[in-house]
Amino acid sequence: MKVTVVGAGNVGATCADVLAYREIANEVVVIDIKEGIAEGKALDIWQKAPINLYDTRTIGTTGDYSKTAGSEVVVITSGLPRKPGMSRDDLIGTNAGIVKSVTENIIQHSPDAIIIVVSNPLDVMTYQAHLSSGKSRNQVIGMAGILDTARYRAFLAEALDVSPKDIQAVLMGGHGDTMVPLPRYTTVAGIPVTELIGAEALNAIVERTKVGGGELVKLMGTSAWYAPGAAAAQMVEAIVRDQKRVFPVCIKLEGEYGIDNCYLGVPVILGKNGVEKVIELQLNADEMKLMKTSEGHVREVMKVLENLG
Ligand code: NAI
Ligand code: 2OP
Repeated sequence: MKVTVVGAGNVGATCADVLAYREIANEVVVIDIKEGIAEGKALDIWQKAPINLYDTRTIGTTGDYSKTAGSEVVVITSGLPRKPGMSRDDLIGTNAGIVKSVTENIIQHSPDAIIIVVSNPLDVMTYQAHLSSGKSRNQVIGMAGILDTARYRAFLAEALDVSPKDIQAVLMGGHGDTMVPLPRYTTVAGIPVTELIGAEALNAIVERTKVGGGELVKLMGTSAWYAPGAAAAQMVEAIVRDQKRVFPVCIKLEGEYGIDNCYLGVPVILGKNGVEKVIELQLNADEMKLMKTSEGHVREVMKVLENLG
């Protein structure tokens, strides 16, 4: 079983590495436009196999989509990352063109592939890939919620001095500062988080999570890759192993949460068909208001994409 990762940069290479060493696929193809980079990183990952003990074959190519043919899942990470002072939305002009051409090439060689978009601005690049692929909404989805939720869970684990494994949570909405963390749906091994942490400290964690991507851009001069690459690989795993995992995933909403024709992160069941089901939480008025604000923001960026033609 074959998985393709488009873009051999920071996120793409990390994702390919996780897919390989965790043996999530038998074959991982990495494709980039920069001469030699995909071949080099794929060879490096393959040469790690005798050390980390895995069988997954990793193959790199510069622009030869015939090598991606028959992929079950394709992860799109190609495009510019954020630099300090940039928002994710500043990337739209360049990345929309890249995501469009990449999706068209992918579909030509792997018409049945489920597509996971990572490129930013995430919600609107998922829209672009959905448009360019002509596939159903449950097969063209975006990765952001697992990452944003992981950041929130990591901050909470640190504050409470507990294992991150025991923090369960869900974040919804767009992948940006208007994302919607849900403390009401956050537990520590089943215990409501509000019984373990004060409102002020919890609120500080929520606010830090919302700008979690920006915190890393400021530190490194470019955006994060370890957690994003691992998050995308976790989505691939849920699909190829038909795990029916419950994850927040970006998908086109068609009436769920009273929102139609907008790409937002919501909890879903992820399995062999991509999104098997969108889960509708009973949000309270305050949570719904945050969701509507996030929707408004994503719609504005969707309009920018539509105006680009
Ligand atoms: P990077 O610059 O390290 O890698 C991007 C790669 O894409 C480069 O190797 C480049 O040559 C390649 N590329 C550009 N045009 C291409 C094309 N037409 N076909 C194939 N490859 C092409 O960037 P990085 O850090 O890997 O980030 C990739 C994207 O993911 C960015 O847009 C970034 O903002 C986004 N991102 C999204 C996250 C999320 O949660 N959704 C988290 C982190 C990053
Ligand atoms: C992140 O959240 C920039 O979207 C990227 O790290």
